[in-house]
Amino acid sequence: MAAPHRSISFTLNGRAARAAVAPHDTVVEMLQRDFGLFGARESCGQGLCGCCTVVVDGTAVSGCLYLAALVDGATVETVEGLARDGALHPIQQAFVAKSGFQCGFCTPGFILMTKELLERHPEPTDEEIRQYLSGNLCRCAAYPDIIEAVKMAAELTRYSMPMSTSAPHDSTFTLSDGSALAYTLHRAPGPRLVLIHSLALDRSVWDGVVERLRTDAQILTYDCRGHGRSSHRAGRFTAELFARDLAELLDRVGWQDATVAGCSMGGSVALAFAGLFPARATALGLIDTTAWYGADAPAKFRERADAARAKGMQGLIDFQVTRWFSDEFRAAHPEVLRRTSAVFVANDVDCYAASCALLGDVDLRAHLPAFRMPVSVVVGEEDYATPVEMARQLHEAIPHSTLTVLPRARHLTPIEHPDAIAAQLGDLLKPR
Ligand code: FES
Ligand code: FES
Repeated sequence: MAAPHRSISFTLNGRAARAAVAPHDTVVEMLQRDFGLFGARESCGQGLCGCCTVVVDGTAVSGCLYLAALVDGATVETVEGLARDGALHPIQQAFVAKSGFQCGFCTPGFILMTKELLERHPEPTDEEIRQYLSGNLCRCAAYPDIIEAVKMAAELTRYSMPMSTSAPHDSTFTLSDGSALAYTLHRAPGPRLVLIHSLALDRSVWDGVVERLRTDAQILTYDCRGHGRSSHRAGRFTAELFARDLAELLDRVGWQDATVAGCSMGGSVALAFAGLFPARATALGLIDTTAWYGADAPAKFRERADAARAKGMQGLIDFQVTRWFSDEFRAAHPEVLRRTSAVFVANDVDCYAASCALLGDVDLRAHLPAFRMPVSVVVGEEDYATPVEMARQLHEAIPHSTLTVLPRARHLTPIEHPDAIAAQLGDLLKPR
């Protein structure tokens, strides 16, 4: 005679659930049979492999052995309950970004164990990760990528803390070629915005803009290689190399795509990024920039690098400040001049020269007609570095672009006119 079924009620992935279970039914059998949930799957059936992991009252258990009758009154979580509003959980994002799986059979178990690990140890060491996941087996032996995914998940889950308890997150990560990138993630609910600074400066270029947008968007700022607190390893710098750096940084923070805005050199990097990864740039802000500095640019930028070698960075500062800011702004804001000049003077000359060569050689015009994302081109009326005519050429070559000329502004409009730049970027961030 069949054993009598027992009616149980519990909370399954945040919702009330009921089931009629036999005394020998396991949680995995019940989830698959009664709820159509196949994320927890039986493999060894002996509590050895972790493929059947589910979370009962906050503790990961082997669903192949755990009797269904025991979850009566409990809270049960499965991998299917992690995504919210169509967005993957940060741990899932990390496993995708780091390819922390091959066939994927073991992945739900690893993800749920990672969740428990990070709730108990938000900043685990490699050794702690290995120990914690030692009960989860992967037949594909994807372990190195799984470890990387868990480390990334640790960062992402920290970013996911509520705004009220969060502050900008400063960090550094190592690119695939061993160079380090320093970055700041400003956490907030809302769309994603990444901001790229200009030649020989750093992410602080964007401070005024970030201040104005930080409650409306998640904002990522960083120091390009050779700049600020990122690695000062000179080499052959190109806009494409910097664009690939950005792609790696986005992977690092778990962003599949973002609105990408850049000022001057940063604008060229934004253009290269959109050219190489069009699906990852949902909109572009091209500020005081160009796709091409002209036929004489290779020689002119190399002359500038030679001048830096001959005179030192300090020897270029008078030329720089008059290019950056209008007479009116310089007279009214000496402290901004001092701060910005200090960043400029601190540059490594070899990295400066490599960045000058990047700008001298850059030619991204071929990408422009193919852009399909919204694009905002902004330029200062008095910009001598990338004059209004260069901005107009960008605007005419890019199908869905607007052109805004800011009166009485020169070449560093994010610092000189943060209200106007924040307004332009705010428009780009609006849902369409
Ligand atoms: S199927 Fe449950 S631990 Fe392997
Ligand atoms: S990814 Fe195939 S079993 Fe782990």
